[in-house]
Amino acid sequence: MTERTETRAASPDARDVLAVRGLCKSHGRVRTLDAVDLDLKPGERVALLGHNGAGKTTLMKLILGLWTPSGGEIRVAGAVPGSAEARKASAYLPEAVAFHRALTGREQLTLFARLAGAPVKTVGELLERVGVADAADRRIGTWSKGMRQRLGLAQVLLGRPRIALLDEPTSGLDPISRHDLYAIIDEMAQNGTAVLIASHALTEVEARTDRIAIMRKGRIVADDTLARLSARAELPIRLRLTAQNDDASEVHARIGGERINGASVELLCSPETKMQRLAHIAALGDLVIDVEMAPPSLEDLYRHYSQGDRT
Ligand SMILES: Nc1ncnc2c1ncn2[C@@H]1O[C@H](COP(=O)(O)OP(=O)(O)O)[C@@H](O)[C@H]1O
Ligand SMILES: [Mg+2]
Repeated sequence: MTERTETRAASPDARDVLAVRGLCKSHGRVRTLDAVDLDLKPGERVALLGHNGAGKTTLMKLILGLWTPSGGEIRVAGAVPGSAEARKASAYLPEAVAFHRALTGREQLTLFARLAGAPVKTVGELLERVGVADAADRRIGTWSKGMRQRLGLAQVLLGRPRIALLDEPTSGLDPISRHDLYAIIDEMAQNGTAVLIASHALTEVEARTDRIAIMRKGRIVADDTLARLSARAELPIRLRLTAQNDDASEVHARIGGERINGASVELLCSPETKMQRLAHIAALGDLVIDVEMAPPSLEDLYRHYSQGDRT
């Protein structure tokens, strides 16, 4: 299967905060990135999904100008990565945040504010915003990984960047903090910041991003809205029936599908045949006591798009 996905990069736009074209990166003989195209507009939240080693961090480091591409082009707010203009426009939350362990959170963020030329008086407010105000005057060496990541997020918010690159921001956070994280991402986007979120935590980005770019072995294999990716993948809907008296044999004999255990039968159907299937199920009367319907999950989609093109 070699389905080619039409990416947004097919239509370059002067308003793009990020424009990546035909980007390649080799580490020695290994090609880490291969002809990557990616665009972000102001206020767009884009998830960059891929397994470990897919090339997500590499792409971010190239966008930041920390590494040099082997080929292709990148513009950040119209400027070359690493230039003063591009650096001013971008903010980065690395996968592993490294701070001065001996400084307190407040001292560290104040230092960052001075370096970024941001008003120092916002520091207290930002520490509050990311939920570490209580620990602000303790040394960072005593903080948990989740707390340090929140401090990293405060640093991202400092300069009101035009693009924020967040590398695996949910690793090390507890579920409630993830909720907070996405609230902050939404807020940034509303203020016009484009946000690129690298993640392998698929369930995290399902409802919270405008677009999903799926990366596999250094290539972007899909880049679109979740709705359009779902429609194009034509993945089946799963219907799970629970039989009366925990007896699935009769239901299975009459309707087919697959027996999951003594009590349940699972059927797959397309969106078009769903109503017809449900009518058949209803005709079984009391034999079926419950029906659960599961649309394709993001995991299903991810598997679909990252399996294609095995070359
Ligand atoms: N400095 C490096 N030297 C050699 N190979 C590297 C280097 N950095 C990354 N790679 C390789 O590039 C690939 C992509 O890595 P990475 O961008 O970190 O993926 P991800 O962030 O998606 O997990 C991996 O196969 C990794 O082994
Ligand atoms: Mg990474």
